[in-house]
Amino acid sequence: MKSFLAKLKGDKKNKSTTTTTTTKPTSTPVTSAPAPTTTTTTAAPAPAPAPSAAFIADMTEKSESFFQAIEGRRSYYALKPETTLTDAQLQSIVERAVKHTPTSFNMQHTRAVLVTKDVKNKVWDTIKEIKTKDETEDHAKATSEKIDNVFKAGYGTVLFFSDESVVNGWGNQMPMYAEAFKVWDAHASGMLHYNVWTALELEGHGANLQHLAEGSEPIQEGIRKVLGLPDSWHNSALLNFGVPAAPAGDKQFAPIEERVKVVTSA
Ligand SMILES: Cc1cc2nc3c(=O)[nH]c(=O)nc-3n(C[C@H](O)[C@H](O)[C@H](O)COP(=O)(O)O)c2cc1C
Repeated sequence: MKSFLAKLKGDKKNKSTTTTTTTKPTSTPVTSAPAPTTTTTTAAPAPAPAPSAAFIADMTEKSESFFQAIEGRRSYYALKPETTLTDAQLQSIVERAVKHTPTSFNMQHTRAVLVTKDVKNKVWDTIKEIKTKDETEDHAKATSEKIDNVFKAGYGTVLFFSDESVVNGWGNQMPMYAEAFKVWDAHASGMLHYNVWTALELEGHGANLQHLAEGSEPIQEGIRKVLGLPDSWHNSALLNFGVPAAPAGDKQFAPIEERVKVVTSA
């Protein structure tokens, strides 16, 4: 196992110095048929590599851009009120992520609302007003500063929701899973947050994920009211995004050997 992982690591190291142009595939994949030409003097195709080598090469090659995207996603807290995309393109990213991110039993209970500019400010002002109402003066000042200078600072916010009428409907139909549906709701919601987060960052944005509505019914209500949403929509997170104004902070990693085990026989 170690040597396989070492090979993967070695491949990755080699790639990082040579594959910066492969993140956005612009040329025809090498496995597809060559474009037709008017001449018949094309070179004979190279012999196929041995199956095991091809398997390893394909595995690393095909997932490389996926892992580059995963590794490139970070939390950015310094954002400019700018985007690299049109609002229609942003909408398309959110729609594709909502459509294709899996949900348990394919119950499709996840929802999202994209807000930009003034509407984004209105959402965050609503949250600020409700959240600071019961806080001490110092605490309220800190909350307001964070919302104004960090959460509101980007171009937009994607608000994620679960339609609880759908989740509860499945729970009522299958009572033995009623509690599990709530857990699976959280799993599916997290997957959706992550997909939108990663896609936005691939497009040159920075983003940070916030959970100020979780555990606060007044904030849930405030968000629904300002956006005119159904009572059954429960906010699971808010993803603030914009063009980064500063790099992401340092990130420490625990030893991967402590977190991943491979068991090949027991
Ligand atoms: C489920 C989940 C909840 C999080 N909640 C918050 C949050 O409420 N506020 C925040 O600033 N960051 C939040 N984060 C961001 C994490 O702190 C961050 O992802 C982590 O420190 C790793 O840093 P990175 O995102 O730069 O890789 C959350 C991340 C996850 C996965």
